[in-house]
Amino acid sequence: MSDREPQLDPLFRPRAVAVVGASREPRAIGHLVVKNLVEGGFTGPVYPINPQARSVRGLRAWPTIEDVPDDQLDLAVIVVPAAAVPDVLEACGRKGVRAAVIITAGFREAGGDGPEREAALRALAQRHGIRLVGPNCMGVISTDPEVSLNASFAASTPLTGPVAFASQSGALGEAILARAHELGLGLSAFVSLGNKVDVSGNDLLAHWAEDPRTRVILLYLESLGNPRRFAELAERIARAGKPILAVKSGRTAAGARATASHTGALAGLDEATTTLLEQHGVLRVTRVEGLFNLARAFASQPIPAGGRVAIVTNAGGPGIMAADAAIAYGLEMAEIGPQTRSALRALLPPSASFQNPIDTIATASPQAFGSSVAAVLADPGVDALLPIYVGPALTDVRAVAREILGAIERARGVGAGNKPVLACFMGGRADEAREVLAAADVPSYDFPEDAAQALAAMARYRRWQARPRGTVPPPPPGLQRAAALVADAPAGWLPAAQAFALLEAIGVSVAAPARVRTAEEAAAAARERGWPVVLKLDHPQLLHKSDRGAVRLGLADEDAVRAAARDMLDTIGRGLDPGPLGLLVQRQVGPGVEVLVGANSDPSVGRVLAFGLGGVHVEVLRDVALRVLPLTDRDADELLDAIRGAPLLRGHRGAPPVDRAALRDLLLRVAALVEGCPRLAELDLNPVLALPAGAIAVDVRARLE
Ligand code: COA
Repeated sequence: MSDREPQLDPLFRPRAVAVVGASREPRAIGHLVVKNLVEGGFTGPVYPINPQARSVRGLRAWPTIEDVPDDQLDLAVIVVPAAAVPDVLEACGRKGVRAAVIITAGFREAGGDGPEREAALRALAQRHGIRLVGPNCMGVISTDPEVSLNASFAASTPLTGPVAFASQSGALGEAILARAHELGLGLSAFVSLGNKVDVSGNDLLAHWAEDPRTRVILLYLESLGNPRRFAELAERIARAGKPILAVKSGRTAAGARATASHTGALAGLDEATTTLLEQHGVLRVTRVEGLFNLARAFASQPIPAGGRVAIVTNAGGPGIMAADAAIAYGLEMAEIGPQTRSALRALLPPSASFQNPIDTIATASPQAFGSSVAAVLADPGVDALLPIYVGPALTDVRAVAREILGAIERARGVGAGNKPVLACFMGGRADEAREVLAAADVPSYDFPEDAAQALAAMARYRRWQARPRGTVPPPPPGLQRAAALVADAPAGWLPAAQAFALLEAIGVSVAAPARVRTAEEAAAAARERGWPVVLKLDHPQLLHKSDRGAVRLGLADEDAVRAAARDMLDTIGRGLDPGPLGLLVQRQVGPGVEVLVGANSDPSVGRVLAFGLGGVHVEVLRDVALRVLPLTDRDADELLDAIRGAPLLRGHRGAPPVDRAALRDLLLRVAALVEGCPRLAELDLNPVLALPAGAIAVDVRARLE
């Protein structure tokens, strides 16, 4: 892959490490870093740097980094007070250090001149070719046995495993390391990103994409520095088979920007971020605990071929809970085949349930439970299995766990070894079973819902992987002309005629309105357009026209047009500044389905396209789906099916289906327009009439920045 980040090797695979600010005080952060490096078994030399000390933790200390007699000093961990950091970084540069982790806080996050001091660090590091992690971070860990690097002050040392984890919050990072340890989840690497002055989450993605020890990537994000690069990297990595799981926080007030347009108001604050992640194969979870549920499954189990889940349980209640959760998370209950059912009948008492969820009942022996698991796993109609066991006090739950492992082994023997098994042990002595299963890398959850959540995410990932990758079509020929139309226009809402002209320039069909000022002119314009017509009052202060009674439909002759025009001018028009007041005369199109196509800018992810049911009820129905730009042909196609009202487009109750190709084409043209005109901050085509042949924009509003 082209995006390889060889610069991060000195960070993850340093040959020697210095800790600058290695305090003699055992509880000081600088001291803890030395302790973690040494006790973590770092395979190279560790050099404490402290002008006041002869030694730190029995290691000889050096007054400055330049005094260290080692020319392989790749990494410096900097833990000196903020004011001393620039000088230390300079010295690192002179020494030839290639990566630095700045744990010191007190930069951008401190306000004041923090941002400038942070920018100065970036410039310094660039000048010396040093990659920087932090400042204001907890450190970096790699469990690669060739390095065994714990360059952090974390209190717990992670177990070795296939999960790489980047955290934008140091404090949460600590909590997550502790929880991962508790759950037995092994990590390949951990990075606390801090203020991201240089190394970003994207750089880590690019690095871990290439790291053979990393099979799953976990992200705790507060912001996406470069959403486009993130989207590209994530898509590539997720397609290559490394799942990315993310918790993204930040429903910030800054994002809650009031906006007058439909699209802006309809796209919830965080929805655009969720859309970006899902569009590119990243599995988003809302809670940190969910991140662990998923990580444990992805780290140890194969991805299921489909979403058909079987549940084998010895207790009715938890089985039903699991089934409910599985369905709620979007899985399907597998249909148990007749052959499997008769195998189960031979194993279990007649009072057992042979339908999914399969209830072996409480008295089933560990062997009967294990054999049932084996039979169900071998069923070709089953993609994944949740064995759920509630341990009565007297049962040997270890034996049950061993039987489950045996069943998985037998399933491998009959070619069914590619099915994930996520166990759940509840009640007394569950931890004993968990221990047995963990040794064979089978996760065991405390509650059925957790297992169902994890499995559903795996099935979702499989579905996303199976989805063909779309392409972004070349921009429509009129794009440059459209951009030129608004190049010199002042910021603010465009006059209606100009907004329509913009659409026409990129080849969108519109019911082009005539703008007139008097009732007489309106009648003349209507005659030219053909009957019936729609008449609208037009004024910069009239945003939602129909709410104000400023739209008249179905005007079938000149008299009707004159009357409607006079009425609107006399009533609504009276309260408005007469200067820009006018009338729009449009040919009435339809009948068809009223849809909305809109675009706006989301503070976290950039340009977003919205599609939904349109017309006057749009705020009530809120039936809108989003895609983050650039828009592929595949995205456009999916948008048409993503709304609840999709059946209306397919032709409901005898109505003819709408022209999907025309709608898809419209979406792609609008996306290209928004991408090609960066000044276009908001665009609303509402309604667009989706017809059996064609799609025509009937009203449009556009705002320039
Ligand atoms: N080079 C080498 N060593 C230096 C030095 C320099 N330029 N300047 C100071 N030192 C030594 C000191 O002699 C001291 O050693 P000693 O304790 O043996 O005397 C040690 O470095 C620490 O210096 P000190 O002045 O005591 O700083 P501190 O320990 O009070 O604070 C930080 C240093 C970096 C921990 C502190 O500034 C900080 O940023 N804390 C917050 C860290 C944080 O929360 N990060 C984010 C986590 S998510």
